[in-house]
Order: sequence, then C-alpha cells, then structure tokens
Amino acid sequence: MGHAVCLILTYLITLTVSQFVPPYTEECRTDMYPPSGPTFRETVSWYTVDLDLPPSSRWKEVISDKKVDIQNMIQAIRDLASAFVPSGRLIELVDITLPLMADTLPNPFREEIKGIATESGVPLGEIVLFNIFYEVFTVCTSVVAEDTKGNLIHGRNLDFGLFLGWDAKNKSWIISEKLKPLVVNLDFRRNNQTVFKSTNFAGYVGMLTGIKPNTFTLTMNERFNLDGGYIGIMEWILGKRDGMWMGFLTRSVLENANSYNEAKTRLAQTKLLAPAYFILGGNQTGQGCVITRSRTLSLDLLEIDLKLGRWYVLETNYDHWDEPFFLDNRRTPAMKCMNQTTQKGISLKTMYNVLSTKPVLNKLTTYTTLMQVSEGRLESYIRDCPNPCMPW
Ligand SMILES: *[C@@H]1O[C@H](CO)[C@@H](O)[C@H](O)[C@H]1NC(C)=O
Ligand SMILES: *[C@@H]1O[C@H](CO)[C@@H](O)[C@H](O)[C@H]1NC(C)=O
Ligand SMILES: *[C@@H]1O[C@H](CO)[C@@H](O)[C@H](O)[C@H]1NC(C)=O
Ligand SMILES: *[C@@H]1O[C@H](CO)[C@@H](O)[C@H](O)[C@H]1NC(C)=O
Repeated sequence: MGHAVCLILTYLITLTVSQFVPPYTEECRTDMYPPSGPTFRETVSWYTVDLDLPPSSRWKEVISDKKVDIQNMIQAIRDLASAFVPSGRLIELVDITLPLMADTLPNPFREEIKGIATESGVPLGEIVLFNIFYEVFTVCTSVVAEDTKGNLIHGRNLDFGLFLGWDAKNKSWIISEKLKPLVVNLDFRRNNQTVFKSTNFAGYVGMLTGIKPNTFTLTMNERFNLDGGYIGIMEWILGKRDGMWMGFLTRSVLENANSYNEAKTRLAQTKLLAPAYFILGGNQTGQGCVITRSRTLSLDLLEIDLKLGRWYVLETNYDHWDEPFFLDNRRTPAMKCMNQTTQKGISLKTMYNVLSTKPVLNKLTTYTTLMQVSEGRLESYIRDCPNPCMPW
C-alpha cells in the first residue's frame, strides 16, 4: 500500500520535473548583499505584537493592515479545494468542523485565532485551516554557523506551497505567490520590551523563524515521514489531543525559554503532532544544533563541533544521515557554498549569498531571514526566483 502510493508520487513528481530539466543549479553566488535585483522583491515591514494585551486583540494592527491579502490567500485556498472536490463540500466541511476544533486548542492560541477571524472577516474554520497549513507544506533550508570570533549566525529560506497549484503561464506556485504579501516581521513585547522577534505570515500564530535576542535563534523545517504529520493531524481531528502543534511549541519556546539549553530540552522532549526538524542556535561558541524529531522522540542531535571541523549545521528536509531525495537535493549545493565560504568568510552577508544560490533559492522560496543572536538582529527579504529556476 505504502509502496503503491510511493510509486504514484514518484511518477507524478517525475512528470512534473521533466518539464524543467536540466536542473537549474548554478555556481555559488557572491555579492548578492545588500539584497537587490531580480531575486529580491522587497524588504519586510515590522509590526509590534503586545503580549500584555488580551490574546483576542493582539493581532489587530497586523490583520487590519493585511486583511485584503489574507482574504486573497483564503480565496486561493478555496479555489484549490473546489478544484479538488468540485461541489464546494470540502470548504463546507472546514467551515463546519474546524471551528469546533478551534475550541480545543490551548490558549493563547485559541483566543488569538478567534481574534484574527473576527478582525479579518474570514470564517473561523478557514483561519484554523490556514494555521494547520504550515505544519504540512513547508520545505525549507536552515543553517546555523559559527564565525571565527564565536558569533552565531542563523539563516533560512522559507519554501512553501509545494503541489499547491502550479501556474503554468507565469511558472510560479499559486499559493507561494499569494503568501509573499503576507510576510511580516513581528516584535513581541511585554512591559514594552522585546521578548522575541519573528518572521511570519500574517494570520498564523505559530512560529517558523524567530530570535530571542542575546539568547537563541530558532527555525523549524518539515520532516516528511510515513508515520508523519498526516497521521498525527488525523488523530488530532479524531480527538486524540496529547501531541502539540509544532508551530505552537516553537512559539511557546521563543516566548518562555530563557536559555539555549532550556530551548533545546523542550524542543527535544515535547510530544508533537508531526515529525519536524528544529534548528537552534545559542549565544555561545558551540551552541548550534539540528534536532531531528519523530512525534514522540528526539531521534538525533547534530551539533556544531569545532574540534571536528564542523563549524556549521545545515538542514533541508531530509535526515542528515540519509541521502536527500534525488529530485530534491538542496543540501549538497548549500553545503558546497558553505564550504566555499569558509568559517573565516561567514557573515550575514555571505549567508545571504548561500541562500541566494539556485536551487537553494527556488520557485517555492517566499522569504530569506538572517539572524545574529549577539546583536539581537533579524532581517528578512521577500524573494523571487526568475527563470530558469527549479520549482523546488
Ligand atoms: C505570477 O502570478 C502571480 C499570481 O497569479 C502574481 O502575483 C505574480 O506577480 C506573477 N508573477 C509574474 C512574474 O508575473
Ligand atoms: C515604549 O517604548 C517606546 C520606545 O521603545 C517608547 O517610545 C514608548 O513611549 C514606550 N511606551 C510606554 C507605554 O512606555
Ligand atoms: C547567553 O545567554 C545566557 C542565558 O540567558 C546568559 O546568561 C549569558 O549572559 C548570554 N551570553 C551572552 C554572551 O550574551
Ligand atoms: C563540506 O565540508 C564538509 C566538512 O569538511 C564535508 O563533510 C562535506 O562533504 C562537504 N560538502 C560539500 C558538498 O562540499
């Protein structure tokens, strides 16, 4: 059974890919920073989320600014759903069942999501769906590197929208394009002081990319696995609710953990709804790791180890001890460029070069974020990948 699904998937993927051969890889880019030119669309604007406000009104400013873009995005999801199940029954189901599920979410997420639905005018079930989305369709590249002075630098490309509607006319993914206007930088404050910052999609209350200034940096990448998100999410829908949404865990770690080690322990030990990779950087030499998670366990911890010459850790969407899927090898090109950069040469600037090299940069890439923990710095850029460019 699993085998048949695998064969069909491989067939579909090969069919899609055959349109794009030869693979569009390129020499490692240099001099891409400061961002400009055709791979850079725009910088991301900042918003404050005041954690002292009640959860239902925290997102007001972001949502009222991004309302139209959120509605466009939701419409694109509705169109996709009715292309899939023509009667409109799928969205009907979402509108009826998911609001009930919303009530089972832990706070502050429940109240935040309800507040977002009210403010955006989008039905609650569809905002819940939008929040589940990221747990399923995210393919990414994340790197934590240590420079020769002991500074930790964390970079990531957020690639989103795989298989969600390919626009053959302008060679882009429909959902990825709709997401770009939703990218925001958020400054989460308590007592008028920054607790953490993140790059996010307006309307999503979990975290995929964030920094706790002077303490740690964190990104999450999806881990595909047969005992994967789909099973956990089905179980959750059917009422087995002991696992945590990955984006809620990363949010809660950014909000509440006070050191690299505390963050590491919580990311490794909390039971999850789906497998994931957590990429965590600390504020001191040697503090950078990739945590490979199953739903229940931490399977593996790969850490920076200068004695072994491992001055960076890098994760795409495959277990580091396995070869990446042959049609989706972003790991080798990214590592090649990191190796060419060398520990002496690594900086936010050169990290941006690595993340701008195709196919590390591809048609799914919505944004690039660069973080430096010691300066509390987070900057992000909305990306485009002009043709020729790999679809993922
Ligand atoms: C491709 O289409 C999307 C939405 O349909 C649009 O936002 C985007 O600007 C288009 N890109 C180009 C290069 O025309
Ligand atoms: C919050 O901090 C900002 C600058 O960081 C300041 O302009 C503002 O007055 C402060 N607000 C309050 C209520 O203290
Ligand atoms: C790193 O974080 C720890 C724990 O929060 C803190 O005690 C320490 O001062 C920080 N170190 C630096 C160099 O900022
Ligand atoms: C990069 O360097 C590491 C460490 O020397 C090595 O294990 C790896 O194979 C290299 N990768 C590439 C793609 O050059």
